[in-house]
Amino acid sequence: MFDFTGKVAVVTGGEQGIGRATALALARQGASVVIGGLDDVSGNEVASECGEKGSYFHVDVTRADEVRELSRHVVERFGRVSVLVNNAGIHAIGNAVETDEEQWRRVLDVNVTGIFLVTKAILPQMIEGGGGVVVNVASEAGLLKQLETSRPANRLGAPDESAAAIVALASDDIGYATGAVFSVDGGLTAQ
Ligand SMILES: NC(=O)c1ccc[n+]([C@@H]2O[C@H](COP(=O)([O-])OP(=O)(O)OC[C@H]3O[C@@H](n4cnc5c(N)ncnc54)[C@H](O)[C@@H]3O)[C@@H](O)[C@H]2O)c1
Repeated sequence: MFDFTGKVAVVTGGEQGIGRATALALARQGASVVIGGLDDVSGNEVASECGEKGSYFHVDVTRADEVRELSRHVVERFGRVSVLVNNAGIHAIGNAVETDEEQWRRVLDVNVTGIFLVTKAILPQMIEGGGGVVVNVASEAGLLKQLETSRPANRLGAPDESAAAIVALASDDIGYATGAVFSVDGGLTAQ
C-alpha cells in the first residue's frame, strides 16, 4: 500500500518481534533496510529475509561510538537515511517495589538514552539528504502481568499489527502527522 521505493530505512532492534516485522514490511514496500541490533545470528537472518536490499549491522544503542559507526555505515553504503525506526527496547517486568535500581537504569539507558543517541547520530545525515521520518516505538505498560486482561481487545497485539502502524507513520502519505503519538494497544489507554 505504501511506497518506500528508493528509501533507506534503519530499524534498531530489528532482529525479532516488532522490529523484525517492521523491517520485513518496509522491505516489502520497496525500502532498503538496515537492521541494527545485538543478536548477529537473528539479525543476519532477518536481513536475508528482507532480500537483497536487507543488511544487518551490529550495534548497541546505548554505546555512542557504536551508534556513530552505524550512521557512518549506512551513509557509506546507501548515501542517505530516509527513515529511522527507534524500536530497540527492553521490557520492564515489575512495579517500583519489584524492580531494582540496576534494572531501572538499564531500561532508561536502552529505551530512552538509546533513542537519543541513535537519533543524534542519524539526524544530521537525514537532514543533509533532504529530510526524512523518525518513528520512536515505546511501551505504555509497565506491568506485563496485567496486559492481557486490562484492555478492551482482550488479547495481546501481534508484531505485524504494530509494524503496520509504524510503516504507515513512516510513509510520505501521512507526512502531515508530525510529533503525533499513536497507540497500538488494543484500547488500553483509551478506556
Ligand atoms: N511487545 C509489546 O507488547 C510491546 C508493547 C509496547 C511497546 N513495545 C515496544 O516495542 C519495541 C519492540 O518490542 P518487542 O516486543 O518487539 O521487543 P523484543 O524484546 O522482541 O525485541 C527487542 C529488540 O531490541 C534489541 N535490543 C535490546 N537492547 C538493545 C540494545 N542495547 N541495542 C540494540 N538493540 C537492542 C533486541 O536485540 C531485540 O531484537 C520495544 O521498544 C518495546 O518497548 C512492545
